[in-house]
Amino acid sequence: MPPIDTSSLANVPRGLIVSAVTDSAAASRVALVTGASSGIGAATARLLAERGMRVVVNYLRSSEAAEAVVADIRAAGGHAMAIQADVRDAAAVAAMVERVAAVWGGVDVLVGNALTPYAIKPFDDMTWEELGGKLDDEMRAAFVVTKAVLPAMTEQGWGRLIYLSAVLSRQPRPGFITLGTSKAALVQFARFLAQELGPRGITVNVVEPGPVSDTGISHVLNEELRQRQIAATPLGRLARPGDVAEVIAFYASEGNAFITGTTAAVNGGMSMY
Ligand SMILES: NC(=O)c1ccc[n+]([C@@H]2O[C@H](COP(=O)([O-])OP(=O)(O)OC[C@H]3O[C@@H](n4cnc5c(N)ncnc54)[C@H](OP(=O)(O)O)[C@@H]3O)[C@@H](O)[C@H]2O)c1
Repeated sequence: MPPIDTSSLANVPRGLIVSAVTDSAAASRVALVTGASSGIGAATARLLAERGMRVVVNYLRSSEAAEAVVADIRAAGGHAMAIQADVRDAAAVAAMVERVAAVWGGVDVLVGNALTPYAIKPFDDMTWEELGGKLDDEMRAAFVVTKAVLPAMTEQGWGRLIYLSAVLSRQPRPGFITLGTSKAALVQFARFLAQELGPRGITVNVVEPGPVSDTGISHVLNEELRQRQIAATPLGRLARPGDVAEVIAFYASEGNAFITGTTAAVNGGMSMY
């Protein structure tokens, strides 16, 4: 990112200078949100754009939905582009990041959000291909995308890496061993990155929602389970994608200069840790 010229602000009150600098800094940031054609990713793309970032809306299959997110952002005066890439495919991800670099420069903020498929079943019925496959997909995606965005962040000495985990990484629920185990690996991966990348000015954090409405999985869970989840939530409802996006946006912001290696629980108090 080029240095910010504040000389024209010499006569502006100090508080306003801080706000103007923050806004213009956000405006020059480029955020890549993986899996942003729906759910939490789409809400995050919209919010980061609203906060002034230029946003890459990555998707796998849902081109129309991704283009709709881009259209919404542009209609609101923001900057966005949709790019199809399978986050598990190193060549496709490298091509995506190169395309972003050619148009906007390097990625400053990565939101690793894409949700690869997983089996929901008890261990007794599970094959190694199901458990091992999800572990491989989850970690390969995190590894590949992080590798692709890191050189530009390292070069400029500033970056924000944010990964989506799930409360299931700590709190087992029947049937969710594949997702919970792979997210637990992702959380520890993020901590190791936070340690190694801190000296380069790169923060690494995890956002860990409980059940979120208006997402892929919420459409397949039955109403009885939904009511039980609400009853177990002190704040009296399920999270909405926007609740999660707010926390991601904080981690992505200029204001988050000194929090790294942490996990934010966004579950309305359903699990307290
Ligand atoms: N929903 C919840 O209750 C909940 C709870 C805790 C944590 N989370 C976490 O939050 C994140 C987002 O979940 P969500 O429920 O919002 O997801 P979602 O609504 O199911 O959407 C999944 C997104 O991931 C994309 N995607 C899937 N495979 C991909 C791949 N290989 N490459 C690129 N993009 C891919 C999809 O794109 P296409 O549609 O284009 O294929 C879609 O945009 C996930 O990491 C999830 O584990 C969700």
